[in-house]
Amino acid sequence: MNLVVVSNRVARGKPNEPMTGGLAAALLPVVEHSGAIWVGSSGRVRDGNLKEPFAEIESLGAGALAMLDLPAAHYGGYYEGFANSALWPALHSRADLIRATQEDYVSYREVNAFMARALLRFRKPDSVFWIQDYHFLALGAELRDLGVTQPIGFFLHTPWPSRALIGGVPHHRELIEAMLAYDLIGFQTEEDRENFLSYIEHDLGLEVNEGVVRSHHGRMRAAVFPIGIDPQKFAQLAQKAMTHPDVSRLRRSLNGEKLAIGVDRLDYSKGLVNRIKAFDRMWTAQPQLARTISLLQIATPSRGAIEAYGNLQSEVAKLVTDVNGIHGEVDWTPIRYLNKGFGQAVLAGLYRTAQVGVVTPLQDGMNLVAKEYVAAQNPADPGVLVLSKFAGAANELDTALIVNPHDIDGMAKTIATAVSMPLTERRMRWEAMMEKLNAGTIEQWFNDFVEALRETQFVKSEIGPIVTEPALWPVRSSQGARYH
Ligand code: F6P
Repeated sequence: MNLVVVSNRVARGKPNEPMTGGLAAALLPVVEHSGAIWVGSSGRVRDGNLKEPFAEIESLGAGALAMLDLPAAHYGGYYEGFANSALWPALHSRADLIRATQEDYVSYREVNAFMARALLRFRKPDSVFWIQDYHFLALGAELRDLGVTQPIGFFLHTPWPSRALIGGVPHHRELIEAMLAYDLIGFQTEEDRENFLSYIEHDLGLEVNEGVVRSHHGRMRAAVFPIGIDPQKFAQLAQKAMTHPDVSRLRRSLNGEKLAIGVDRLDYSKGLVNRIKAFDRMWTAQPQLARTISLLQIATPSRGAIEAYGNLQSEVAKLVTDVNGIHGEVDWTPIRYLNKGFGQAVLAGLYRTAQVGVVTPLQDGMNLVAKEYVAAQNPADPGVLVLSKFAGAANELDTALIVNPHDIDGMAKTIATAVSMPLTERRMRWEAMMEKLNAGTIEQWFNDFVEALRETQFVKSEIGPIVTEPALWPVRSSQGARYH
């Protein structure tokens, strides 16, 4: 089998480099190990002759990493536009933030088609294609249009929302019909899968039989594959990281005070504002906790060219300043707020130093920070995870302190409970979570999906084509831009 993994962002194997993408960081060790070819964006764009689009192909473990320059004319509309200003907000239940122009949609489809053409270079009779995430919903259909009959799978790292919410995305119907070209679609949770299938049943009017849908594309199966981490490796990394200069400096600076940690991309789905308000509420309601517990919030800048992200950055920065102004002392800063990324070799040590991990997104596919925080703990004296019920991870890590991120008072009380939790209870909760992490590792996730995909047969269905509403405009750009 020749496995070809495709994602927008790819990672190179340097543990000291900051990694912005949960997906890219998570995939790196398993892809490396598997001998697959990993294809993604080089992060650069190019005009003109894109007949030979690969900027770089380098070896990656037993396989290779192929990085593609994307077409300059379409990159903005694809990445900042349709992917992150229409799909991302909808997938995270923020219909109010959906912004997309017709040009953005055209660019999204053009980049999907461009990637499909580029992938032909890696096609072999025994190839299996595995496409990652919402940037490439239509890539499978583009590959089929080019005559690819090999198995093509898709995994969604984000949540899949209700029918009403996904219905807020322009061209939702075309896109979801295009997704039927995949043989296997993987979701993080059962709820995501149910939401997706409910759209297929009620909006497309197709029959769903035990997660299997037949359409003119053939047979597509939707299943749940919760993504994991390598908990043993992360635990070792955390132990080693305790002597890292950044971690040592942090520990010295605490003077015996307890620490809560939050590590997120600066994204409105992460619930940063509510989290900081909860700390504010806690220090107001229980002033004795001042100087007892402070918060280290790492918020890595992300997608800064998009207005909603710029607004969030200003809002969070102002809130942190206000809260520090109210509760701070000449020699005590309640919230240390850092707008930069850290490599995993440092992060693991920061997690292990913190007695409380706060992972309180308003909506999240899985959230691997939650899993990493748990794996990084000292088994003899583990910290407490405060986890949003809206993170996919809450399905597995159900012995964390589960919170509703919209309930600020509730979160404030729960964080205080975490701070004073006795060792026996902390250990009991942590051991149960470690058991779950060991039972569902990233290696297993990867193998399970690939195995399930290999088993799928690309069966051309005998049923007729889906009756679709006529498209309001052609999917291809009217400028006729083609890249090969
Ligand atoms: O699933 C969404 C995701 O790929 C995450 O895994 C990752 O944290 C994030 O998006 C990265 O986004 P970007 O590639 O835009 O930085």
